[in-house]
Amino acid sequence: MGKENTFLVTVWIILANICVSFSSTPEQTLFGNSNSTEWLEDYTDIVSKFSLRTAEIPDDDLCYIVPGQPLTIPKCEFNPGYKTFVVIHGWTVTGLFESWVPKLVTALYKREPKANVIVVDWLTRAQQHYLTSAANTKLVGKDVAKFVNWLQKTLDYPWEKIHLLGYSLGAHVAGIAGLLTNHKVSRITGLDPAGPTFEFADAQSTLSPDDALFVDVLHTNTRGSPDRSIGIQRPVGHVDIYPNGGTFQPGCDLQNTMMMIATTGIRNMDQLVKCSHERSIHLFIDSLVNAAEHQTMAYRCSSKEAFMKGMCLNCRKNRCNKVGYGVNKVRLPRNTKMYLKTREMMPFKLFHYQVKVHFFSSEKLAYTEQPMKISLYGTHDEKIDIPYTMPFLNTNSTVSFLLTTDVDVGELLMVKLRWEKDAYFSWSDIWGNKNFHIRKMRVKAGETQSRVIFSAKDGEYAYLIRGKDDVVFVKSKEDNMSRKEKTMHRLKMQGSHFKNNIA
Ligand SMILES: *[C@@H]1O[C@H](CO)[C@@H](O)[C@H](O)[C@H]1NC(C)=O
Ligand SMILES: *[C@@H]1O[C@H](CO)[C@@H](O)[C@H](O)[C@H]1NC(C)=O
Ligand SMILES: *[C@@H]1O[C@H](CO)[C@@H](O)[C@H](O)[C@H]1NC(C)=O
Repeated sequence: MGKENTFLVTVWIILANICVSFSSTPEQTLFGNSNSTEWLEDYTDIVSKFSLRTAEIPDDDLCYIVPGQPLTIPKCEFNPGYKTFVVIHGWTVTGLFESWVPKLVTALYKREPKANVIVVDWLTRAQQHYLTSAANTKLVGKDVAKFVNWLQKTLDYPWEKIHLLGYSLGAHVAGIAGLLTNHKVSRITGLDPAGPTFEFADAQSTLSPDDALFVDVLHTNTRGSPDRSIGIQRPVGHVDIYPNGGTFQPGCDLQNTMMMIATTGIRNMDQLVKCSHERSIHLFIDSLVNAAEHQTMAYRCSSKEAFMKGMCLNCRKNRCNKVGYGVNKVRLPRNTKMYLKTREMMPFKLFHYQVKVHFFSSEKLAYTEQPMKISLYGTHDEKIDIPYTMPFLNTNSTVSFLLTTDVDVGELLMVKLRWEKDAYFSWSDIWGNKNFHIRKMRVKAGETQSRVIFSAKDGEYAYLIRGKDDVVFVKSKEDNMSRKEKTMHRLKMQGSHFKNNIA
């Protein structure tokens, strides 16, 4: 492992250096004081290359469209009647395209077979010391703006068909390009936009909501203090989604990564650093290829903590949205964050539930970190023994938490709850019979927006005893009426308090 470790440490040191040394970069206005757009039509200094990739050969550059050379457009078989995706890579250690590029190209063609998928090659400028590459985003953004402007003008191509997608530093390239074009492009998707040197930079230098008619962003690697985060932490789009809190992604821990490296070879060594960062791309790919059966949803929330309590599974007034390609193009108030939990691999979709339980007891009991197992039974399927560690469990208090499952159980019919023994010996187990009693369990499903009240299957209360059997809750009779029926019922019983025109 010696060699690999050295490499890993080197990568980390590079990253750490980046993170601490940028702070004094002077910010300048983009291109001096001139507000003329003549520069947009000077193609002589363009360094970036624009490769129209194909669905058949997604991993090779066979035809470049060259700004200023209109014949390259038909030569590359650009399809003017269809959408254009412009894919922009980020910083690179190897100077080569990373393996996600052909995967994203393939997924885009799978979803939009007649579209044009153009990959921007700025590898030479992306292979520098991070700080240099980060500064280069302005030059590359300028190249991309010239390219898009020229293509649009040459073909009288509709601006609303142009979608830029940028990963890491590429997200800021897309933002700068969007800012400089003559007209706003339809959409920019930022895939974990880079953090170092951008977290505190102005909107002109970073991806921002002003750069396109619609800007959507996935944040997947925003760990640590803001100046040390690989991905930018603050929201920079109209919709900013933080999967799994945005900090770190499931399946990206050391053990998993080492396993992957062992099975796929040393070339993937930097996966440890990149796994969570790159997850943004794979979530987007997932949304392109798996949306039909597995569309993931995200929910607006004031904080990660509130989300983990299940308190934000609300879809009214655009509070929830689809993740990825099919996102509803709503412009949320600035600095709004959306959250979801995902699986560790494709398809990433999980179903979200808020579970609310009130724990009664005649004695004053207080526990922390209690292991629970919850089972969900629905009209389609069931999921047994979903583990959940309850942070606090106190007498006469209500607990609300987020429960997720990868199984689509359908409409919920029954819920079981079991209180596991601690791993270690506990005196309270000897004295035994300490219990909580539970009358109702309220479950709200994020994906279907249904709310169900469950009541104890046998008797008024269910008795939850540590280390004993599951307690069982079934759909309560009072809940059998639909919301509409309930409203009608109330109306009939209590008379109308509403104005006539609402009835
Ligand atoms: C920018 O253009 C406007 C008119 O379009 C002009 O009034 C202004 O002086 C220009 N500013 C600069 C710095 O060239
Ligand atoms: C908890 O609430 C129940 C009913 O409201 C009450 O009978 C019981 O004494 C309370 N327990 C404690 C420890 O206060
Ligand atoms: C709920 O209503 C359905 C029909 O609408 C009925 O078949 C079912 O038995 C009812 N369940 C309960 C618990 O009352």
